Amino acid sequence: MNERGERGLERKFDPARAHRLDAPERDAYLPDAPLLALLRLRGEETVVDYGAGTGRLAIAVRAVLGAGGRVVAVEENEKMLARLRERVAAAGTQVEAVAIASNRVPEPDGGVDRVLAVNLLHEIRGERALDEMRRLLGPDGLLLVTDWERGRDPERALGPPDEILYSKDEAAAELERAGFEVEARNGFRYHFVLLGRPG
Ligand SMILES: C[S@@+](CC[C@H](N)C(=O)[O-])C[C@H]1O[C@@H](n2cnc3c(N)ncnc32)[C@H](O)[C@@H]1O
Repeated sequence: MNERGERGLERKFDPARAHRLDAPERDAYLPDAPLLALLRLRGEETVVDYGAGTGRLAIAVRAVLGAGGRVVAVEENEKMLARLRERVAAAGTQVEAVAIASNRVPEPDGGVDRVLAVNLLHEIRGERALDEMRRLLGPDGLLLVTDWERGRDPERALGPPDEILYSKDEAAAELERAGFEVEARNGFRYHFVLLGRPG
């Protein structure tokens, strides 16, 4: 049985799989650099990495920001947060690792320039997380959402089962419902990519 078959229909990420998020092979199908280039960072932004997992992307974002920039890596799972904090400490970097519950991020309305939501959308189905992202972003803010795409590749052996995923159009409709204007970008091998701007 492949990974999709083994995983069952649990939406939330199993911390026992955390090593998969850090695997170098991930770059073959979801490369960090072109993904993060979509954030069009100039260096002084405040960036929230929503559902930051092990901090792979939060640490990479921090590396391209200047002293005036901030990265706030938010996580609801205690085990993932512990791993995130360890990884940030080992990297000796300035990522703020923050525990959140019920999608409440301790940042002011409109105080955030970028929100990154990677491999998260299918985990927040039915929650108010997209509304919280909309609340956080200022008028010139940008949301970057990428996730495994339902129906994209019937041969896919990696990632969550199709049953719990969104199609690109369904995902775009979710962002619109939360008050974003949506622009679809070219996706990656298994992932759609959507940019959301406060509407
Ligand atoms: C599949 S992992 C992706 C991690 C990271 N974004 C990456 O791409 O490497 C999803 C993460 O989001 C976290 N998560 C899920 N729902 C969340 C929520 N509502 N608030 C905060 N974190 C959440 C999970 O605990 C998990 O660590």
